[in-house]
Amino acid sequence: MKICIIGSGYVGLVSGACFAEVGHNVICVDNDQRKVDMLKSGAIPIYEPGLEDLVHQNVAAKKLHFTASIEEGVDGSEVVFIAVPTPPQPDGSVDLSYIERVAREIAGVLKPGQYRVVVDKSTVPVKTGEKVADTIRRYNPTAEFDVVSNPEFLREGCAVPDLMKPDRIVVGGNSERAVALMQKIYEPFMAPVLVTDINSAELIKHAANSFLALKISYINAVAQICEASGADVEKVADGIGADKRIGRNFLNAGIGYGGSCFPKDIAAFIAIADDLGVPFTLLKEVQHINRTQRDRFLAKIRAALWVLREKRIAVWGLTFKPDTDDVRTSVAVDVVNDLLAEKAIVSVYDPKGMEKAQEYKLVEGAKFTESALEAAEGAEALIVATEWKEFTKVDLEELKKRMHTPLIFDGRNLLDPVTVRNLGFTYVSIGRA
Ligand code: UGA
Repeated sequence: MKICIIGSGYVGLVSGACFAEVGHNVICVDNDQRKVDMLKSGAIPIYEPGLEDLVHQNVAAKKLHFTASIEEGVDGSEVVFIAVPTPPQPDGSVDLSYIERVAREIAGVLKPGQYRVVVDKSTVPVKTGEKVADTIRRYNPTAEFDVVSNPEFLREGCAVPDLMKPDRIVVGGNSERAVALMQKIYEPFMAPVLVTDINSAELIKHAANSFLALKISYINAVAQICEASGADVEKVADGIGADKRIGRNFLNAGIGYGGSCFPKDIAAFIAIADDLGVPFTLLKEVQHINRTQRDRFLAKIRAALWVLREKRIAVWGLTFKPDTDDVRTSVAVDVVNDLLAEKAIVSVYDPKGMEKAQEYKLVEGAKFTESALEAAEGAEALIVATEWKEFTKVDLEELKKRMHTPLIFDGRNLLDPVTVRNLGFTYVSIGRA
C-alpha cells in the first residue's frame, strides 16, 4: 500500500522504515528541509539500533522516500499518518498546535474525489480525533476522508523490534472502510489488532504510559520501605513480579523515570482528567514519588560527602535510559545539574548521549570524557545514573586505582553489591542494604 507519514521524528521515521520493510511504499514528510536532505543523503538524525540499516535498505529498494512537501505525500497515498510532536505546555496540558496545523495543511491539499484515511499516531488527548476531523472539514468541506487513531507503543532504544513485533496494534476508527485499510496495512506484522472507537484508542495510549509509570513509582516507593527496613528491593520485585498478573517488567527501582514520554504523558493525563472533571490524584502521587527518588539519592550523596563544593564527582550516564542517544528530560542530566549547582567538579561519560548533551548545552560546566575510566580519574565519588551495559564491563580493580576514594552511588542498581564491596568499594544503591 502507499503510505504517507507526516513528521520524521522518532515515531514517524521508525514507523516509515518498518512499513517499508514489510512491503509498503512509504513517503515520509518533514517540514524541516535540512532533515529531509540529511535523510535523502543517507544520514539518520537519531540513534536507534537497527534503524540505519533498515532506512538504507528500503531507500535502495525504492520503498522509502523523503520529501518536505505535504502535497506530494498526500497526493500519492491513500493513508496519511500524522506523527508530529505534541509537546507539553507549562501547565502540563498538551500543545496541539502542530497537529492542528498539519490537519489544516492536509485539508489544503485534499483533492475532490480523493478518499484519504488520516491516522493520528502522535500521542494526543482523548477527543483530538474529533477535532482533527472538524478542522479538515472546516477548511475543506468537500474532502472525502476518515480519521483514525492508531497510537504507537514503541520504546526508544528498541523501537525497531517493538514496531516489527508489537504486542498489540490499536486501531480506533468509526468507519469500516478506514478500519479495513488499517488492517491491511498491519496484516504483515501478524500481531493482534484491537479495534475500538477513536476516543478509546486515544485513551489507551495515555492510560498505558501512566500505568507503566505507576509501576515504576510503586517499586520506587517499595524501595524506600526496603531501605528503612533492611530488605532488598530486587528480591521483592522478583517475588511480586513472578505473579503473572503483575509481571517483573517495569519493576526496576532507580532514581526515577524520565524521557520524552512518561513525564509529559503523566502530566497530560492529569490535565485531561482535570479537564473532564475527574481529578486523577493517584497520578499526582506517581509524579511526587518520581521527584522524591532523585531528592533521596542526592541526600545519600550529601550524607556521605558532607559538602559537595569542590568535590570531584564522576557521573556515568546522561541519557534517560540505555541504548539511546536521547538526553531529553533525563534524570541523569538533572543529577549532574544538581551537583553542578552545589559547585561540585563533575566529569561525565555516556556511550551515546554526550554529543547531544553538548549540542543542547544541557550540563554546562561538566567535563566530558572519552571513557568510563577517564571520567572516574581522581574522583571522590562515582555516580551510576544510566544503566548502560558497557558500565558492567568496566575493570573494577582499575576503577578503584583511578578513583581518589572508592565510593559508588548506583542510581540504577546496575552493579553487584557483593562484587564491588569485596573489592573494597563503599557502595550505595537504591532499596538494597
Ligand atoms: C515509553 C513506553 O514504554 C512506550 O511503550 C511508549 O510508546 C513510549 O514511552 C512513548 O509514549 O512514546 P520510552 O519513553 O522510550 O517508552 O522508555 P521506557 O523504556 O518506557 O523508559 C521510560 C523511563 O522509565 C526511563 O527513564 C527508564 O529508565 C525508566 N524505567 C523503566 C525505570 O526507572 N524502571 C523500570 O523498571 C523501567
